[in-house]
Amino acid sequence: ELEQEVLGWLSELVDGLYDRQGERPVEHIRSRIKSADGMREKLARKDLPQDAETAVGAISDIIGFRLVTHFVGDVYELVKSMKADGRYFVVKEKDYIASPKPNGYRSYHVIIECPFPPAAKGTIRVEIQLRTIAMDFWASLEHKINYKFEGNAPQHIKTELVECARMVSDLDARMLSLNEEILSLSGETED
Ligand code: GTP
Ligand code: MG
Repeated sequence: ELEQEVLGWLSELVDGLYDRQGERPVEHIRSRIKSADGMREKLARKDLPQDAETAVGAISDIIGFRLVTHFVGDVYELVKSMKADGRYFVVKEKDYIASPKPNGYRSYHVIIECPFPPAAKGTIRVEIQLRTIAMDFWASLEHKINYKFEGNAPQHIKTELVECARMVSDLDARMLSLNEEILSLSGETED
């Protein structure tokens, strides 16, 4: 099945990076198929007809993957591998790490096009989200808050979330440079 095929591809890219840098770059990979309710809700939101053909053509995250890395550098390395590999065509990418959303959301989204014979176009779009453990922690809390307040959280909570996102970004930068320093030191002792 397509989900397994893309999962296999992502695992190969992760293993490739693991081989090159000698330490595991990814904490976990998760995949999910959007529920029928989720698809209906999204089609309704986009004012589109509720049929499978429209869904496959218009929704790019029916099949979604999330790669959670330790360091922010790994996100960029993996995106580079995806594009260099060329097995799937990268249709679209959004770097919410370099340009966070106003609420503070950070992640790198890549949309690829995969062969899918049942579709009229013969392809389906698949969304891959890449983020660090720290970004994932923030996003899960933000998601929970949004769910609880149905998108209308009190202002002080929104402000606090933006501030936490700034701290997460600072933490990611410091953890990355600390790791780089450790790697360069252990490289020196090996010689
Ligand atoms: P939809 O939001 O899915 O309609 O598509 P879009 O074109 O706006 O894409 P976008 O890249 O903004 O978001 C796609 C997915 O990223 C969402 O379904 C979420 O999983 C995730 N995402 C985007 N923004 C946020 C956010 O502010 N907070 C959290 N927790 N997740 C987000
Ligand atoms: Mg959105």
